[in-house]
Amino acid sequence: MLSGKRILLIIGGGIAAFKSLDLIRRLKERGATVTPVLTRAGEEFVTPLSAGALAGAKCYRNLFDLTDEAEMGHIELSRAADLVVVAPATADLMAKMAGGHADDLASTLLLATDKRVLIAPAMNVRMWLHPATQRNIAALRGDDVLFAGPNEGDMACGEYGPGRMAEPLEIVAAIEAAFGEGPLRGRHVVVTSGPTHEPIDPVRYIANRSSGAQGAALARALRDLGAKVTFVTGPAQVPPPGGVRVVAVQTAQEMLDAVKASLPADAVICAAAVADWRVANAQASKMKKDGSGMVPALEFAENPDILAHVSQLKTGRPALVVGFAAETDDVAAHAAAKRLRKGCNWIVANDVRPATGIMGGTENAVTLITEDGAEDWPRLPKDDVARRLAARVADALGARG
Ligand code: C5P
Repeated sequence: MLSGKRILLIIGGGIAAFKSLDLIRRLKERGATVTPVLTRAGEEFVTPLSAGALAGAKCYRNLFDLTDEAEMGHIELSRAADLVVVAPATADLMAKMAGGHADDLASTLLLATDKRVLIAPAMNVRMWLHPATQRNIAALRGDDVLFAGPNEGDMACGEYGPGRMAEPLEIVAAIEAAFGEGPLRGRHVVVTSGPTHEPIDPVRYIANRSSGAQGAALARALRDLGAKVTFVTGPAQVPPPGGVRVVAVQTAQEMLDAVKASLPADAVICAAAVADWRVANAQASKMKKDGSGMVPALEFAENPDILAHVSQLKTGRPALVVGFAAETDDVAAHAAAKRLRKGCNWIVANDVRPATGIMGGTENAVTLITEDGAEDWPRLPKDDVARRLAARVADALGARG
C-alpha cells in the first residue's frame, strides 16, 4: 500500500506515455497522491487534462508559468514529493538527468529534488543500446537513481529488444519497493548471480553458460517484498533489476570479496554459477603462438567457495544462507549431502539434464532442501520460482526474528 505517499510523476514524450495514465490510476488505487508533470514532448502523447483529471490534481507543464510559481515554486514542487517518478523516461530526458541539465520544468525538478528518483525508461532498442545511453545509465545508477525496466519485447516501432517501458503494475511494485514496503522491509539480503570469468590472459577467459536469469528474478522478487538487496553479479546476459544495489564483478575471488564487503546481511542467497577453478598461471600479456607447435599448459587452482565461506562464518553469520545445486542425477540425495557439506540452511536443487530444457530455459523445476527434508515444487517460470522462494525467505526471517 502507498497510502499517504506523495509521488511527483514526470511524463516524458514517448508512445508509452499512455501507460502512465494507467499508472496514475494504479497509484491512486493504492492511496498515493500523484502530482503529474508533463514535458513538452509528453504533451504530444497525452493531454494535461487527462493526466490532471486522473490524478485529481493540477498537471504542471511550464517552468515559467508564473501562476504555478505563485502557488508553488519549482523547488518546493520537487521537494513536496516523497518520490519522483519519471515514466516514460526517454533517452533525451535520461541524458539531461545524467548531464545535470535544467532547461525545462521536468529537468529542473529532477535537478532540484532532494528525494529519490525512479525512472521507467522507454525508447527504441537501438537508442537504449547506444553507447551514449549506456553511459548515461551507468551515470544515473551511480547517482542512485532507481530503474523499473525496461522490458524486452516487441516495440511500437516494429523492432524487438530491450526498451519497452515496464508495465504499470511493475512500476508500482518498484515504487513500493523504493518505499521499503513489504514483509522484508528493513532486511538486507545479498544475492550472488551469473557466471564468473576467470582470466587466462588479458583477452581470454574461462566461463560458463549461466545467463543470470534466476538470480536476477530472485533479486527482483526480494526487492518487491521490501528487502534492501545487494546484487553481486558476474558478467550475466540478463540485466540486473532496478532498485537494488548492483556490485559487478568478474572473478570468483572478486565475488567473495564483494560478498564479504556487503555483510552484515540477514540472508545470503548464492545463485551464482561460480567457476570452481581459476587459471593459476594466467598471463599478464596476451599469449601468442610461436609456430613451434607447442601449446600452452594451463594450470588450475581451486576457487574459494563463497557459499561455504558465508555458511561457516564464526561471527556475523547471516540468519539464513541459501545455495543452489544443479544436479543431473539423484537430485535430492546429492543436494541434501551438499547442504550438510557446505553448512548452509537451504539448498534449491534442480535437475539440469539436457532433456529437462531447464539450463538456459525460462522455466525451472526445483526441490527445496531444508533442515526438515525435501519439498518438490512444480515446474514453474523462473520468476514464479523466485517469488515463491522470496516468500519463504520472508517467512523464515520473520520466524527467526
Ligand atoms: O558445489 P557446487 O558448485 O555444486 O555448489 C553450488 C552452490 O554453491 C551454488 O549456490 C553456488 O552459488 C555456490 N558456490 C559458491 N562458490 C563456489 C562454488 C559454488 O558460492 N566457488
